[in-house]
Amino acid sequence: MKGEGLIDLRILVSVGEHNFPRDVAESLSDLAEVIYHQPGEEGYREALGDADALVAGMERVDERFLARAPRLRIVARFGVGYDNVDVEACTRRGVYVTYTPDVLSGAVADLTWGLILTLSRHLVRADRFVRERWALRRERLPFGIDLEGKTLGIIGLGRIGSEVARRAQGFGVKVIYNDVVRRPELEEAYGAEYVSLKELLQRVDIVSIHVPLPPSTERLIGEGELRMMKPSALLINTSRGKVIDQKALVKALKEGWIAGAALDVYEEEPIPLDDPLLRLENVVLTPHIGSATRETRRRMALVCAQNVRAVLEGRRPPNVVPEQIGKPIIPP
Ligand code: DGY
Repeated sequence: MKGEGLIDLRILVSVGEHNFPRDVAESLSDLAEVIYHQPGEEGYREALGDADALVAGMERVDERFLARAPRLRIVARFGVGYDNVDVEACTRRGVYVTYTPDVLSGAVADLTWGLILTLSRHLVRADRFVRERWALRRERLPFGIDLEGKTLGIIGLGRIGSEVARRAQGFGVKVIYNDVVRRPELEEAYGAEYVSLKELLQRVDIVSIHVPLPPSTERLIGEGELRMMKPSALLINTSRGKVIDQKALVKALKEGWIAGAALDVYEEEPIPLDDPLLRLENVVLTPHIGSATRETRRRMALVCAQNVRAVLEGRRPPNVVPEQIGKPIIPP
Protein backbone atom coordinates (compact mmCIF):
# COMPACT_ATOMS: atom_id res chain seq x y z
CA MET A 1 0.00 0.00 0.00
CA LYS A 2 2.56 2.59 -1.03
CA GLY A 3 2.21 5.78 -3.08
CA GLU A 4 4.30 5.99 -6.21
CA GLY A 5 7.86 7.27 -6.10
CA LEU A 6 7.83 8.15 -2.45
CA ILE A 7 10.25 7.82 0.41
CA ASP A 8 10.79 4.42 1.82
CA LEU A 9 8.89 4.52 5.11
CA ARG A 10 7.04 1.68 6.80
CA ILE A 11 4.32 1.56 9.42
CA LEU A 12 3.84 -1.68 11.34
CA VAL A 13 0.31 -2.16 12.64
CA SER A 14 0.12 -4.79 15.36
CA VAL A 15 -3.56 -4.42 16.29
CA GLY A 16 -5.11 -6.10 13.26
CA GLU A 17 -7.29 -4.86 10.43
CA HIS A 18 -10.42 -5.07 12.55
CA ASN A 19 -8.97 -2.28 14.72
CA PHE A 20 -6.99 -0.34 12.13
CA PRO A 21 -9.11 -0.69 8.99
CA ARG A 22 -7.67 -0.78 5.49
CA ASP A 23 -9.18 2.56 4.53
CA VAL A 24 -7.41 4.27 7.43
CA ALA A 25 -4.16 2.57 6.36
CA GLU A 26 -4.88 3.77 2.81
CA SER A 27 -5.10 7.35 4.05
CA LEU A 28 -1.39 7.09 4.94
CA SER A 29 -0.34 5.60 1.62
CA ASP A 30 1.03 8.90 0.29
CA LEU A 31 3.58 8.65 3.08
CA ALA A 32 4.47 5.07 3.86
CA GLU A 33 3.76 1.40 3.36
CA VAL A 34 1.46 -0.07 6.00
CA ILE A 35 2.22 -3.63 7.11
CA TYR A 36 -0.01 -5.70 9.38
CA HIS A 37 1.49 -8.27 11.76
CA GLN A 38 0.40 -9.22 15.25
CA PRO A 39 3.01 -9.98 17.95
CA GLY A 40 4.04 -13.61 17.93
CA GLU A 41 3.05 -13.94 14.28
CA GLU A 42 5.61 -14.94 11.72
CA GLY A 43 6.92 -11.75 10.11
CA TYR A 44 6.33 -9.42 13.07
CA ARG A 45 9.96 -9.38 14.16
CA GLU A 46 11.27 -8.76 10.69
CA ALA A 47 8.70 -6.05 10.03
CA LEU A 48 9.65 -4.37 13.30
CA GLY A 49 13.27 -4.22 12.18
CA ASP A 50 12.19 -2.14 9.17
CA ALA A 51 9.45 -0.08 10.81
CA ASP A 52 9.53 3.71 11.14
CA ALA A 53 6.25 3.74 13.06
CA LEU A 54 4.39 1.21 15.16
CA VAL A 55 0.66 1.20 15.89
CA ALA A 56 0.94 -0.80 19.08
CA GLY A 57 -1.40 -3.04 21.02
CA MET A 58 -0.45 -4.50 24.38
CA GLU A 59 3.02 -5.82 23.45
CA ARG A 60 5.79 -4.87 25.87
CA VAL A 61 7.83 -2.02 24.36
CA ASP A 62 11.08 -1.77 26.33
CA GLU A 63 14.82 -1.39 25.70
CA ARG A 64 15.12 -4.90 24.25
CA PHE A 65 12.19 -4.35 21.96
CA LEU A 66 13.51 -0.96 20.81
CA ALA A 67 16.92 -2.45 20.09
CA ARG A 68 15.20 -4.60 17.47
CA ALA A 69 13.56 -1.53 15.92
CA PRO A 70 16.43 0.79 14.98
CA ARG A 71 14.37 2.94 12.59
CA LEU A 72 11.40 3.44 14.89
CA ARG A 73 10.32 7.09 15.40
CA ILE A 74 6.91 6.63 17.04
CA VAL A 75 5.03 4.11 19.12
CA ALA A 76 1.39 5.06 18.58
CA ARG A 77 -0.38 3.15 21.31
CA PHE A 78 -3.84 2.03 20.22
CA GLY A 79 -5.51 2.84 23.54
CA VAL A 80 -5.34 5.22 26.45
CA GLY A 81 -3.27 2.99 28.76
CA TYR A 82 0.43 2.79 27.94
CA ASP A 83 1.73 0.80 30.91
CA ASN A 84 3.17 -1.69 28.40
CA VAL A 85 5.46 1.01 26.98
CA ASP A 86 8.68 2.07 28.69
CA VAL A 87 8.32 5.78 27.93
CA GLU A 88 11.74 6.65 29.38
CA ALA A 89 13.46 4.16 27.10
CA CYS A 90 11.55 5.58 24.12
CA THR A 91 12.45 9.17 25.07
CA ARG A 92 16.13 8.21 25.40
CA ARG A 93 16.04 6.76 21.90
CA GLY A 94 14.19 9.70 20.41
CA VAL A 95 10.97 7.73 19.87
CA TYR A 96 7.64 9.50 20.36
CA VAL A 97 4.97 7.73 22.40
CA THR A 98 1.38 8.71 21.67
CA TYR A 99 -1.96 7.43 22.96
CA THR A 100 -5.69 7.86 22.26
CA PRO A 101 -7.24 9.74 25.18
CA ASP A 102 -10.82 11.10 25.19
CA VAL A 103 -12.15 9.20 22.17
CA LEU A 104 -12.80 6.03 24.18
CA SER A 105 -14.00 7.45 27.50
CA GLY A 106 -17.70 7.13 26.68
CA ALA A 107 -17.40 3.52 25.52
CA VAL A 108 -15.53 2.45 28.66
CA ALA A 109 -18.03 4.32 30.86
CA ASP A 110 -20.91 2.57 29.05
CA LEU A 111 -19.33 -0.83 29.64
CA THR A 112 -18.80 0.08 33.30
CA TRP A 113 -22.51 0.80 33.71
CA GLY A 114 -23.33 -2.33 31.73
CA LEU A 115 -21.29 -4.33 34.23
CA ILE A 116 -22.88 -2.57 37.20
CA LEU A 117 -26.36 -3.43 35.87
CA THR A 118 -25.37 -6.97 34.93
CA LEU A 119 -24.00 -7.65 38.38
CA SER A 120 -26.68 -5.88 40.39
CA ARG A 121 -29.54 -7.63 38.50
CA HIS A 122 -27.82 -11.01 37.97
CA LEU A 123 -28.29 -10.73 34.22
CA VAL A 124 -25.84 -13.44 33.22
CA ARG A 125 -27.42 -15.94 35.61
CA ALA A 126 -30.88 -14.83 34.49
CA ASP A 127 -30.05 -15.51 30.86
CA ARG A 128 -28.70 -18.96 31.68
CA PHE A 129 -31.76 -19.65 33.86
CA VAL A 130 -34.18 -18.87 31.03
CA ARG A 131 -32.28 -21.08 28.59
CA GLU A 132 -31.86 -24.02 30.96
CA ARG A 133 -34.30 -24.10 33.88
CA TRP A 134 -37.12 -21.53 33.99
CA ALA A 135 -39.69 -23.85 32.38
CA LEU A 136 -38.95 -26.53 34.98
CA ARG A 137 -40.53 -24.25 37.65
CA ARG A 138 -38.39 -25.68 40.39
CA GLU A 139 -36.30 -22.72 41.51
CA ARG A 140 -36.16 -18.96 41.36
CA LEU A 141 -33.41 -16.45 40.86
CA PRO A 142 -32.26 -14.34 43.79
CA PHE A 143 -33.47 -10.71 43.76
CA GLY A 144 -31.15 -8.00 42.53
CA ILE A 145 -30.73 -4.57 44.09
CA ASP A 146 -32.02 -1.11 43.16
CA LEU A 147 -29.39 1.35 42.01
CA GLU A 148 -31.34 4.50 42.88
CA GLY A 149 -30.17 5.88 46.20
CA LYS A 150 -26.99 3.81 46.27
CA THR A 151 -23.46 5.24 46.55
CA LEU A 152 -20.83 4.66 43.88
CA GLY A 153 -17.15 5.12 44.76
CA ILE A 154 -15.02 6.07 41.78
CA ILE A 155 -11.30 5.52 42.19
CA GLY A 156 -9.72 7.83 39.61
CA LEU A 157 -12.00 10.65 38.45
CA GLY A 158 -10.13 11.32 35.20
CA ARG A 159 -11.50 11.21 31.67
CA ILE A 160 -13.22 7.84 32.01
CA GLY A 161 -14.11 8.16 35.70
CA SER A 162 -15.85 11.46 35.05
CA GLU A 163 -17.94 9.90 32.24
CA VAL A 164 -18.96 7.20 34.71
CA ALA A 165 -19.93 9.93 37.19
CA ARG A 166 -21.95 11.75 34.51
CA ARG A 167 -23.96 8.61 33.79
CA ALA A 168 -24.54 8.10 37.52
CA GLN A 169 -26.80 11.17 37.47
CA GLY A 170 -29.31 9.33 35.31
CA PHE A 171 -29.47 6.41 37.73
CA GLY A 172 -29.94 8.55 40.85
CA VAL A 173 -26.67 7.19 42.25
CA LYS A 174 -24.57 9.33 44.62
CA VAL A 175 -20.89 9.63 43.63
CA ILE A 176 -17.94 9.84 45.99
CA TYR A 177 -14.40 9.64 44.67
CA ASN A 178 -10.73 9.38 45.43
CA ASP A 179 -7.88 10.50 43.18
CA VAL A 180 -4.40 11.98 43.43
CA VAL A 181 -5.90 15.35 42.53
CA ARG A 182 -9.23 16.95 43.44
CA ARG A 183 -11.66 17.89 40.68
CA PRO A 184 -13.71 20.84 42.02
CA GLU A 185 -15.54 21.34 38.70
CA LEU A 186 -16.77 17.73 38.78
CA GLU A 187 -17.63 17.98 42.46
CA GLU A 188 -19.89 20.85 41.49
CA ALA A 189 -21.27 19.34 38.27
CA TYR A 190 -22.09 15.90 39.66
CA GLY A 191 -22.24 16.49 43.41
CA ALA A 192 -19.19 14.20 43.67
CA GLU A 193 -17.68 14.15 47.13
CA TYR A 194 -13.92 13.78 47.62
CA VAL A 195 -12.94 11.23 50.30
CA SER A 196 -9.90 9.19 51.30
CA LEU A 197 -9.54 5.75 49.72
CA LYS A 198 -10.30 4.16 53.09
CA GLU A 199 -13.52 6.13 53.57
CA LEU A 200 -14.56 5.39 49.99
CA LEU A 201 -14.11 1.64 50.45
CA GLN A 202 -15.97 1.65 53.75
CA ARG A 203 -18.94 3.72 52.58
CA VAL A 204 -19.88 2.63 49.11
CA ASP A 205 -22.27 0.07 47.62
CA ILE A 206 -20.30 -0.09 44.38
CA VAL A 207 -16.60 0.59 43.72
CA SER A 208 -15.44 1.32 40.18
CA ILE A 209 -11.76 1.64 39.30
CA HIS A 210 -10.52 4.07 36.63
CA VAL A 211 -6.83 4.62 37.33
CA PRO A 212 -3.89 4.07 34.97
CA LEU A 213 -1.16 1.59 35.91
CA PRO A 214 2.04 3.36 36.93
CA PRO A 215 3.92 1.43 39.65
CA SER A 216 2.01 3.41 42.32
CA THR A 217 -1.38 1.83 41.50
CA GLU A 218 -0.17 -1.76 41.23
CA ARG A 219 -2.20 -3.81 43.75
CA LEU A 220 -3.90 -0.66 45.01
CA ILE A 221 -6.74 -2.98 46.03
CA GLY A 222 -5.41 -5.87 48.08
CA GLU A 223 -6.63 -7.96 50.97
CA GLY A 224 -6.67 -5.03 53.42
CA GLU A 225 -8.74 -2.86 51.09
CA LEU A 226 -11.17 -5.65 50.23
CA ARG A 227 -11.74 -6.31 53.90
CA MET A 228 -12.73 -2.64 54.39
CA MET A 229 -15.67 -2.99 51.97
CA LYS A 230 -19.25 -3.87 52.97
CA PRO A 231 -20.26 -7.53 52.50
CA SER A 232 -22.99 -6.27 50.16
CA ALA A 233 -20.57 -4.20 48.02
CA LEU A 234 -19.81 -4.77 44.34
CA LEU A 235 -16.41 -4.16 42.72
CA ILE A 236 -16.04 -3.17 39.05
CA ASN A 237 -12.71 -2.97 37.20
CA THR A 238 -12.41 -1.76 33.62
CA SER A 239 -8.94 -0.20 34.06
CA ARG A 240 -6.01 -2.60 34.43
CA GLY A 241 -6.01 -6.02 36.07
CA LYS A 242 -2.88 -5.44 38.10
CA VAL A 243 -4.58 -2.67 40.11
CA ILE A 244 -6.28 -5.49 42.06
CA ASP A 245 -4.55 -8.35 43.85
CA GLN A 246 -6.51 -11.04 42.02
CA LYS A 247 -5.70 -13.80 44.50
CA ALA A 248 -7.04 -11.67 47.35
CA LEU A 249 -10.14 -10.91 45.27
CA VAL A 250 -10.88 -14.61 44.78
CA LYS A 251 -10.62 -15.08 48.55
CA ALA A 252 -12.90 -12.07 49.17
CA LEU A 253 -15.53 -13.41 46.75
CA LYS A 254 -15.37 -16.96 48.13
CA GLU A 255 -15.51 -15.91 51.75
CA GLY A 256 -18.16 -13.21 51.27
CA TRP A 257 -16.12 -10.13 52.27
CA ILE A 258 -17.83 -8.52 49.25
CA ALA A 259 -20.90 -9.61 47.29
CA GLY A 260 -19.61 -9.63 43.73
CA ALA A 261 -17.20 -8.36 41.13
CA ALA A 262 -17.35 -7.53 37.44
CA LEU A 263 -14.05 -7.45 35.61
CA ASP A 264 -13.00 -6.52 32.10
CA VAL A 265 -9.26 -6.71 32.84
CA TYR A 266 -7.00 -9.26 34.54
CA GLU A 267 -3.51 -9.71 35.96
CA GLU A 268 -2.79 -11.98 33.01
CA GLU A 269 -4.62 -11.65 29.68
CA PRO A 270 -6.14 -13.77 28.36
CA ILE A 271 -6.98 -15.08 31.85
CA PRO A 272 -5.96 -18.78 31.95
CA LEU A 273 -8.86 -21.22 31.65
CA ASP A 274 -8.00 -22.82 34.99
CA ASP A 275 -8.05 -19.55 36.94
CA PRO A 276 -10.21 -19.89 40.08
CA LEU A 277 -12.09 -16.67 39.19
CA LEU A 278 -13.73 -18.53 36.33
CA ARG A 279 -15.39 -20.97 38.71
CA LEU A 280 -17.13 -18.34 40.87
CA GLU A 281 -20.84 -17.55 40.48
CA ASN A 282 -20.68 -14.04 41.92
CA VAL A 283 -18.49 -12.61 39.16
CA VAL A 284 -19.15 -11.29 35.67
CA LEU A 285 -16.19 -11.42 33.31
CA THR A 286 -15.61 -9.74 29.95
CA PRO A 287 -12.49 -10.00 27.73
CA HIS A 288 -10.98 -6.47 27.86
CA ILE A 289 -13.65 -4.89 25.65
CA GLY A 290 -13.94 -1.46 27.27
CA SER A 291 -13.28 0.42 24.04
CA ALA A 292 -14.60 -2.26 21.68
CA THR A 293 -17.39 -0.48 19.81
CA ARG A 294 -17.33 0.17 16.07
CA GLU A 295 -17.39 3.94 16.44
CA THR A 296 -14.79 4.13 19.21
CA ARG A 297 -12.29 1.74 17.63
CA ARG A 298 -12.52 3.72 14.39
CA ARG A 299 -11.87 6.98 16.25
CA MET A 300 -8.88 5.35 17.94
CA ALA A 301 -7.50 4.25 14.55
CA LEU A 302 -7.89 7.78 13.17
CA VAL A 303 -6.08 9.29 16.18
CA CYS A 304 -3.21 6.81 15.75
CA ALA A 305 -3.04 7.65 12.03
CA GLN A 306 -2.88 11.39 12.77
CA ASN A 307 -0.04 10.89 15.21
CA VAL A 308 1.91 8.64 12.87
CA ARG A 309 1.43 11.08 9.99
CA ALA A 310 2.71 14.00 12.07
CA VAL A 311 5.91 12.18 13.06
CA LEU A 312 6.63 10.82 9.60
CA GLU A 313 6.17 14.32 8.21
CA GLY A 314 8.66 15.66 10.76
CA ARG A 315 6.13 17.33 13.07
CA ARG A 316 5.42 16.83 16.75
CA PRO A 317 2.40 14.51 17.14
CA PRO A 318 -0.76 15.90 18.78
CA ASN A 319 -1.20 13.17 21.41
CA VAL A 320 2.18 12.62 23.06
CA VAL A 321 1.89 10.97 26.48
CA PRO A 322 2.20 13.38 29.45
CA GLU A 323 5.77 12.25 30.24
CA GLN A 324 6.93 13.55 26.84
CA ILE A 325 5.12 16.89 26.93
CA GLY A 326 7.62 19.73 26.68
CA LYS A 327 10.53 17.31 26.17
CA PRO A 328 12.61 17.38 23.00
CA ILE A 329 12.39 14.00 21.29
CA ILE A 330 15.59 13.77 19.33
CA PRO A 331 16.41 10.70 17.25
CA PRO A 332 20.06 9.66 17.66
C1 DGY B 1 -6.82 1.13 26.57
O1 DGY B 1 -7.31 2.07 25.97
O2 DGY B 1 -5.73 1.21 27.15
C2 DGY B 1 -7.57 -0.13 26.54
O3 DGY B 1 -7.36 -0.88 27.68
C3 DGY B 1 -7.24 -0.92 25.30
O4 DGY B 1 -5.92 -1.31 25.31
